[in-house]
Amino acid sequence: MKIAVIGAGNIGHTLGQKWSKAGCTIYYGVRDPEHGKFAHLQESGQVCTILDALTPARVVLLAIPGDAVTGFVEEYSESMNGKLIIDATNNIHGGPMNNLEMLFEKTANTQLVRAFSTLGWENFENPVVNGQQVDLFYCGHSGARPITEKLITDVGLRPVYLGPLEKVDLVDGLTKVWFALVFEQGHTRRLMLKMVEEVAS
Ligand SMILES: NC(=O)c1ccc[n+]([C@@H]2O[C@H](COP(=O)([O-])OP(=O)(O)OC[C@H]3O[C@@H](n4cnc5c(N)ncnc54)[C@H](OP(=O)(O)O)[C@@H]3O)[C@@H](O)[C@H]2O)c1
Repeated sequence: MKIAVIGAGNIGHTLGQKWSKAGCTIYYGVRDPEHGKFAHLQESGQVCTILDALTPARVVLLAIPGDAVTGFVEEYSESMNGKLIIDATNNIHGGPMNNLEMLFEKTANTQLVRAFSTLGWENFENPVVNGQQVDLFYCGHSGARPITEKLITDVGLRPVYLGPLEKVDLVDGLTKVWFALVFEQGHTRRLMLKMVEEVAS
C-alpha cells in the first residue's frame, strides 16, 4: 500500500517508520525535501515534494500543525480526491480539534478517518505500556475500516472503532482527557486510555 505521510515530524516519522517496516511504501511529503534534516530519508528515497507524495498514494496521513491544514487543503485538494485521508492533526489553539468538516467540503470522493490524534507519539513508537497493548480509539467512514484497522494494527496498537464521522467529538474528547491528565495533572506522556470489556465465553 502506498501512503503519503504529510509532515515528517514526531507523528509522521513515527507512523511512517512503522508502516514501512510492515511493508507499505511511504512517501514523506514535505515542503523542502532537500533540507539537511531529512538526510536519513533522502538516502532511502522516501522524502519528496508534497505533490509527488500525494499523487501515487492510496492513503494520506495528515501530520502537520492543525492550523496549517486549511492552507494545505486549499493548495492540494485536487490531489487528495478519491483517497483515504487520516486526520491526525490537533488544533490546539481553539476551535474544533479536527479538520474533518473542511476536508469533507473541499475534497471529493474521499474516505475520511479521525485517528492517531488522541495519544502522544511515544505511545505509537512503543505501543505497550506496563505490559499492556495500547488501544487506539478512532472514527470515520465505515468503508475505510479494513485499511485503517490494518494500519493501526501495523503500528502495534489495538483499534477501537467509535463509529462514523459524527462520532468525532468522542474521539477528540479522549484527546482532551489525555491532555488534562498529562499537561494539567502531572501524569507522564506514556499514558494510554484502555477499554476493558468482559466478554461472555
Ligand atoms: N506530538 C504528538 O504527540 C501528537 C500526537 C497526536 C497528534 N499530534 C498532531 O499531529 C500533528 C503533527 O504533530 P508533530 O508533533 O508530528 O509535529 P512536528 O514534529 O512539529 O512536525 C510537524 C511537521 O509538519 C510540517 N509542517 C509544518 N507546517 C506545514 C505546512 N504549512 N505545510 C506542510 N507541512 C508543514 C513540518 O515541516 P517542517 O519541518 O518543514 O516545518 C513538520 O514536518 C499536529 O497537528 C499535532 O497536534 C501530535
